[in-house]
Amino acid sequence: MRRILVTSALPYANGPLHLGHLLEAIQTDIWVRFQRLSGHEAYYFCAEDTHGTPIMLKAQAEGISPEDLIGRVAAEHRADYQGFLIGHDNFHSTHSAENRERTEAIFRALDAAGHIRRRAVRQAYDEQAGMFLPDRYVKGKCPVCKTPDQYGDSCESCGSTYSPAELIDPVSVVTGTRPVERESEHLFFALTSFEPMLKAWTRSGALQDGVANKLDEWFTAGLKDWDISRESPYFGFEIPGAPGKYFYVWLDAPIGYIASFEHYAKTHGLDFADWWGAGSATELYHFIGKDILYFHTLFWPAVLAGAGLRQPTGVHVHGFLTVNGQKMSKSRGTFILARDYLSKLPPEALRYYFAAKLGAGVDDLDLALDDFVARVNSDLVGKVVNIASRCAGFIEKSGGRLAGDLADPALYADFIAAGSGVRALYEAKDYAAAMREIMLLADRANQYIDAHKPWNLAKDPARTAEVVAVCTQGLNLFRVLIGFLKPVLPEVARAAEAFLAAPLTSWEQLASPLLGTALAPYAPLFMRLDPQVVRALVASEPLAAAAPAKPATKAATKAAPAAAAPAEITVDDFAKLDLRVARVLEAALVEGADKLLRLRLSLGDSERTVFAGVRAAYAPESLVGRHVVVVANLKPRQMKFGLSEGMVLAAGPGGGDIFLVTPDPGAAPGMRVK
Ligand code: MSP
Ligand code: ZN
Repeated sequence: MRRILVTSALPYANGPLHLGHLLEAIQTDIWVRFQRLSGHEAYYFCAEDTHGTPIMLKAQAEGISPEDLIGRVAAEHRADYQGFLIGHDNFHSTHSAENRERTEAIFRALDAAGHIRRRAVRQAYDEQAGMFLPDRYVKGKCPVCKTPDQYGDSCESCGSTYSPAELIDPVSVVTGTRPVERESEHLFFALTSFEPMLKAWTRSGALQDGVANKLDEWFTAGLKDWDISRESPYFGFEIPGAPGKYFYVWLDAPIGYIASFEHYAKTHGLDFADWWGAGSATELYHFIGKDILYFHTLFWPAVLAGAGLRQPTGVHVHGFLTVNGQKMSKSRGTFILARDYLSKLPPEALRYYFAAKLGAGVDDLDLALDDFVARVNSDLVGKVVNIASRCAGFIEKSGGRLAGDLADPALYADFIAAGSGVRALYEAKDYAAAMREIMLLADRANQYIDAHKPWNLAKDPARTAEVVAVCTQGLNLFRVLIGFLKPVLPEVARAAEAFLAAPLTSWEQLASPLLGTALAPYAPLFMRLDPQVVRALVASEPLAAAAPAKPATKAATKAAPAAAAPAEITVDDFAKLDLRVARVLEAALVEGADKLLRLRLSLGDSERTVFAGVRAAYAPESLVGRHVVVVANLKPRQMKFGLSEGMVLAAGPGGGDIFLVTPDPGAAPGMRVK
């Protein structure tokens, strides 16, 4: 039995999870579930990444404490992960006692071993805000190509890199004032001393080839010592012996992996040295995106080594998620939040689609929405679940019990033999190839059923035994496929196990077919995806949270991509919409929903509450007294925050670019809009 500790990158605690975050969580979760099914001792740890300037400033902007912000966001993140069936053994926080203690201990060990250096640094300082400015908080004209509005570290137009001091006409992003230069003492981690160790680790098999090559480029360019301190004000841990200085968030963030482990270990009897001590025999894997490679393949292994701890066995890097071939973007409406997906669609559809497209490499992965529908419907519904739904009824009608023997043991043996290939592909993280293998087997199972036509045999009461034999074979092949898919589809597998009355906890169980046993009643295991609902994922950004996705009304609220435009409608279709003029009586922020306003509307003779996704564009008080147009006969929808009884019409792509539709003066509340 292997002992395996697995992590995914810690999400920043300043915003909601989107489907890119879920790509990583799903990839990791599948691997962990696969290891457990293989009988290994595997743990999956993660946490909130809570420190740093962006979180501090976001809390300030909201007028709340950073602790409140990270607490609120953590609760949202947990709910989203659960919704996607991500089975963390522990989801902790970098703002925790365990992380503070471990970060301090690692820092002391590094300092004692001479790996910490102190030297003065000149940096941009915002006198009005009273704070030093990270490079990205200074903007100005690029010193090379003169493009305005560039960040202090690099130019998006010509690609030059420079320091904020070199910008022409620099301004602080925080206050808009011109920053000055100030000097302070910073602490550096002596990364350069670790070059030989890092070079050896890079070629130890811990990294994908492409990633190891990237590191070679960095070695050639030359490593630099790493600035691990930040000046007050900063939300983080103060550095022992350096009052007013804080650990840079990227120092304590990966230590959060250890903190999450330690928090769990306390109550589960795991030993620190076993898992983190130098020379430990357990395995440690980090799953990350390509953007945070440098931190995980240079700084992190070096920090661990410098503190006398183990090295990661592997760092596995994935590419970025795109939607319909493009970078996810708020203005295009392709920035899909985890919770928006979950409000419309089942988690396992996305888990399957990601698995079907995730290879072992660092290529980007595209969520092409039409392909998503086609793939899920044809593979999961048309191929896999279809086997069970074709066979279940016949067995039920013939006594509800499987036959005592397999009709085609050789075919069953072929399926079992294919298992070692499938497992090797999971281990190698080539899920796409594993899913291809499984679907080829599903094709064979369907061919078997097609060839024996139980629906024809069933017409002849004398041939019931044959019907049961064919369906017993079919359901046993189905069970093997479900076993192979279990890391990807945990809930579908659970439901299938209940139907077959045979739980699956290890691959080995599949080798013995189910014979002579009784089945539970069959209930559909997976529903076809509705393409309209899927398209609404990108078409519905601002108002989706306020109302169900109804194509006819959405088109009115949104400059939607062509794919989402509804078919031609008749006057009668249009007449089904009860559009009314309404007056805003009250407008309020909604706690826990950063896009929504709660509107109390008067329709003349009645009042109602509607949630509208216009918070980024309108201050609540600016809406009171204003006339809007509301879809009055929309089915009320229960939301987390209350009942939404309609939808307010607005135009524009969403976010801050959203414009409420208002009738000309004279229109009174309650009037029908035709
Ligand atoms: N907080 C750091 C990680 C600290 S780990 C000690 C961070 N957070 S993040 O929220 O920005 O990203 C978390 C993970 O999600 C990263 O691995 C990142 O690569 C991944 N992704 C963020 N956007 C992504 C896509 N669009 N596609 C795929 N993964 C993406 O970085
Ligand atoms: Zn430039």
